[in-house]
Amino acid sequence: MSNIPDSSSDKPADQRPDHPDFWCKRFGQGVTPWDAGRVPEDFAAFITAQATPLTTLIPGCGSAWEAGLLGCQGWPVTALDFSPVAIDTARSILGDCPVDLVCADFFQWQPVRPLDLIYERAFLCALPRKLWDDWGRHVAELLPPGGLLAGYFFFCDQLKGPPFGIQPEQLDTLLQANFERVEDQAVNDSIPVFAGRERWQVWRRR
Ligand SMILES: C[S@@+](CC[C@H](N)C(=O)[O-])C[C@H]1O[C@@H](n2cnc3c(N)ncnc32)[C@H](O)[C@@H]1O
Repeated sequence: MSNIPDSSSDKPADQRPDHPDFWCKRFGQGVTPWDAGRVPEDFAAFITAQATPLTTLIPGCGSAWEAGLLGCQGWPVTALDFSPVAIDTARSILGDCPVDLVCADFFQWQPVRPLDLIYERAFLCALPRKLWDDWGRHVAELLPPGGLLAGYFFFCDQLKGPPFGIQPEQLDTLLQANFERVEDQAVNDSIPVFAGRERWQVWRRR
């Protein structure tokens, strides 16, 4: 174990993005610049293209706009977030839509039935970089061979975050041992915080 103190753990919880209080404070104050307020186009096209509903996990779901669309179309979907205030926000947006809304830490969560799809949007870039290896391991553990990891990845070299930008080769390092990239394209409907710096990608579990 390192003897170097982790300065991030000296900060108050509401200043640490690895702590639910950081996100609770922002949802509570209505300061959510990452929130698209709608379902992004590439994801809507992706779900329309699927022949059958996919059992889906949305980690770090926030307001859960996408979960609402999936649930109302009969897809089995779990929307998960470790911030109780985010979960309350999602509940008010989802209304009667049949979505399994779970308040839990992604790194502790296990599915009750096998997943077909993990949807990524503004979750990896919300995680401090020290958690990225764990993220890569956990998405691989959660998906069986053939399972899909699909969504938006924020490519940027600014050090400060969130959002914490990733380099293309870093993402490859996190995923390539267990996944093959099958789609990669520019995004046309980004909100300002991600504009020009995100790509839609689909990765298939080997
Ligand atoms: C930047 S927001 C993105 C929300 C949503 N995906 C969107 O696109 O609007 C990141 C979300 O991830 C959640 N989060 C961060 N770390 C988490 C963890 N370890 N487990 C579950 N949720 C987490 C936060 O509470 C927050 O709601």
